[in-house]
Amino acid sequence: MLRVGMLTSGGDCQSLNATMRGVAKALYQMYDDVEIIGFEDGYKGLIYMNYRIMQPEDFSGILTEGGTILGTSRQPFKLMRVHDENDLDKVEAMKHTYRKLRLECLVVLGGNGSQKTANLLREEGLNVIGLPKTIDNDLWGTDMTFGFQSAVDIATNAIDCIHTTAASHSRVFMIEIMGHGAGWLTLNAGMAGGADIILIPEIPYDINSIISALKKREKAGKDFSIIAVAEGAISKEDAKLTKKELKKKKEKAAKEGKMSYPSIAYEIGAQIEASCGLEVRVTVPGHMQRGGAPCAYDRVLSSRLGAAAAKMISRKEYGYMVAVKSREISKTPLEEVAGKLKTVDPNASIIEEARLLGISFGDEPV
Ligand code: F6P
Repeated sequence: MLRVGMLTSGGDCQSLNATMRGVAKALYQMYDDVEIIGFEDGYKGLIYMNYRIMQPEDFSGILTEGGTILGTSRQPFKLMRVHDENDLDKVEAMKHTYRKLRLECLVVLGGNGSQKTANLLREEGLNVIGLPKTIDNDLWGTDMTFGFQSAVDIATNAIDCIHTTAASHSRVFMIEIMGHGAGWLTLNAGMAGGADIILIPEIPYDINSIISALKKREKAGKDFSIIAVAEGAISKEDAKLTKKELKKKKEKAAKEGKMSYPSIAYEIGAQIEASCGLEVRVTVPGHMQRGGAPCAYDRVLSSRLGAAAAKMISRKEYGYMVAVKSREISKTPLEEVAGKLKTVDPNASIIEEARLLGISFGDEPV
């Protein structure tokens, strides 16, 4: 009997179920005697031995369902980084569950933090396979993550909806798109939605440059503007600070009542209104970007990734994350993936092409 453990970890996304179905379908095709153990709520299930023995029917009809049938949580990555006594207990608990259930391997569907934990378990001697999940597309070692294209579609739809109201009211609209450390989602949805200005963490902005881009549009007779801004967008000035210094600066400003904006889009919006009198509105689609059914692209990608994971199990190829490289399904060692972020290269051709289309990144000289 082949026993395979599976869990979904970190923030959810649209194509988790489709990916699990891919793994399961391929395993059931390959083996007569396979048992899939589904751990509940991510690594928590592995720590506290909360699991279900999955049946083939559990994976039926879930290709198009968002969320995750296993549940997810962000535990215990943050705690494990500290490596205090308590955390070591958790690592031991995970190893204990794995051994007690006599698992052949553990399949982890997760993003950055989750793959880091997967690598830690690999170092502890467990057979682990990662599957690249995140709407942020910021996982190192893969060109594409599942969930990303579905989120691009949703964020694009949000920009499309804002376009019509922005045009009717002659307003500047800021649409804040998810992505703290990387601007993939904002860049793609911004271009797909025809944004005039795109602000991403990888290209620090200058507020004067943004205002100059808005004025240029006004002069050209355009009476509304769309700004797609990533959650993690940062000004040139703030980009010079360390994370700690930036946190301190924001806390101080909030204490003095100078700045207490809920997010970067509100902060930039207020600066625009104060300096050039344009009417600004802010929209934050938020977790909508992770919800609903996966798009067709993700359904295909997830099915392929899942099947590839099953093939790796049959070959006992452990310690890798299944990946996409030049449109082919491939694999990257977990130790290479762990702890690294894949960000947008400011010199990539897509940035140049966007600039040729007249899109401002808020960094042009004024
Ligand atoms: O990692 C995916 C992501 O959706 C990010 O884009 C976003 O910043 C974050 O998760 C939100 O996390 P939470 O669900 O914990 O609010």
